[in-house]
Amino acid sequence: MATRKPRVFSGIQPTGGTHIGNYLGAIRNWVDQQDMYESIFCVVDLHAITVPYTADDLRERKLDMAKILFAAGIDPERSILFMQSDVREHSELAWILGTQAMFGELRRMTQFKEKSSGGQERVGVGLFTYPVLQAADIVLYDAEKVPVGEDQKQHLELTRNITIRFNQAFGETFVVPEPDIKELGARIMSLDDPFSKMSKSNPNEGSRIELRDTPDQISKKIRRAVTDSGSEVRYDENEKPAVANLMNIYSLFARCSLDEVEERFAGKGYGDFKRELGELVVEGIKPIQERIVELDDSPDEVMRLIEEGRERAHAIAGPKMEKVRDVTGLTFRA
Ligand code: AMP
Ligand code: TRP
Repeated sequence: MATRKPRVFSGIQPTGGTHIGNYLGAIRNWVDQQDMYESIFCVVDLHAITVPYTADDLRERKLDMAKILFAAGIDPERSILFMQSDVREHSELAWILGTQAMFGELRRMTQFKEKSSGGQERVGVGLFTYPVLQAADIVLYDAEKVPVGEDQKQHLELTRNITIRFNQAFGETFVVPEPDIKELGARIMSLDDPFSKMSKSNPNEGSRIELRDTPDQISKKIRRAVTDSGSEVRYDENEKPAVANLMNIYSLFARCSLDEVEERFAGKGYGDFKRELGELVVEGIKPIQERIVELDDSPDEVMRLIEEGRERAHAIAGPKMEKVRDVTGLTFRA
């Protein structure tokens, strides 16, 4: 009998402004690992509605995110890609898991603390229970591994705790998942501040390189990126955090080591380095941009792939949810 490949699950919010942090920290790893794992990827629209939005805008951003993922190399022949709200079991399981999540542990989540920094009195409850829905996403598919960037580590720890608690209360029902966070790329920093992570929500667009940026925009953003004192292209996270971040980006796009980056730019200054980095990033995301344009021209095909993803995801989530209803006593039968 063929042994089953380990299963991975990961999600991404359709918030627009997908950047090279998302790509290097998450999406590219998903693409690279498709042969190793049975892969399931989800555009998490239910998570995206925890902040103010309009329906039309959400519809557009969801479709855009699906196109970006297909264009980046998620292969519908090998992986499942679907829209979270197309599979109702996510919402249903989130409610049930919420009964196993502790108020105290949710209150400690840094993402919640950051997003509610304006005051917790007037912040949506959905933002608070966001990590419970994330836990439901993962365990609904019995995923063994969850490839994400560093910022999701705490949510994954919480997912594990909720899952272990559920299994203890109702018997072994779910696989307890493990995070898959790479050493390199898991935390790409802002171009304007090497101490904050590159983020979709930073009001300064110059802080991130978006997958939809033009070559001109990319070169310009890199040219304007902050650097550190001195002029040597040397990797030192403490003394040269900004240059270290740019070197990380270089090594990831060139798929070479940091030592090789140092060697390549020995005796050269920041100006040369930034110019070549700009070219490298432009070349690195060009194939993705070209495929996005192709997909823009075939909306029916994209919709067909999304529908196929829904069916395949539901074929796993449906029976799993039946089991959950059974063990929790929500189904009225022996
Ligand atoms: P989000 O856009 O918040 O849904 O994140 C999608 C994925 O990108 C998650 O796995 C994040 O951990 C990852 N990610 C987001 N920002 C960064 C960053 N600056 N560096 C590396 N990975 C990131
Ligand atoms: N919270 C994740 C983020 O902001 C997105 C996400 C939702 C996710 N559900 C998930 C990631 C399940 C991994 C697994 O990036």
